[in-house]
Amino acid sequence: MNEQIRYEQYSAHYYLAMAAYFSSENLSGFENFFLVQADGERFHAMKFYNYINEVGGRVEIKGLEDLKNDFESIQEVFELALKHEQFVTSRINKLMDIANEEKDYATISFLKWFIDEQIEEENTMGTILNKLKRIGENGAGIMMLDRELAQRTFAAPAEEGN
Ligand code: FEO
Repeated sequence: MNEQIRYEQYSAHYYLAMAAYFSSENLSGFENFFLVQADGERFHAMKFYNYINEVGGRVEIKGLEDLKNDFESIQEVFELALKHEQFVTSRINKLMDIANEEKDYATISFLKWFIDEQIEEENTMGTILNKLKRIGENGAGIMMLDRELAQRTFAAPAEEGN
């Protein structure tokens, strides 16, 4: 789970790098989308942080390696983001496997939130990627999507007691 804190923080960094790329491309809606996504990832990291502490574990914060900052196209960014979310899903599934093996019911309950969250995360990236494939790289469609993504805001789920 400490390793998962690192993955979630890595995700926040990755999406911040993507936000910065869009800022440099003057696409502020896409930038906003990834800034909000990075907020979500920090929230995920803190959920693990809080849970480990809550059950009497010892949180260890691990370092992050440098990551990709330059991208070829808008579509490439979303392809990488979707691939990354699929990787995170596989990590969550692995944690769930361990929790099941160990009959750790509290952790199974905790991880269920992330199982559902990952369905949404992959769906979000996949839906935008499909839109981009239809729109192509240029034109009014991109500007419309940019305006749509500018509306996204981050709100931590209310049920979080941690
Ligand atoms: Fe923390 Fe995007 O999964």
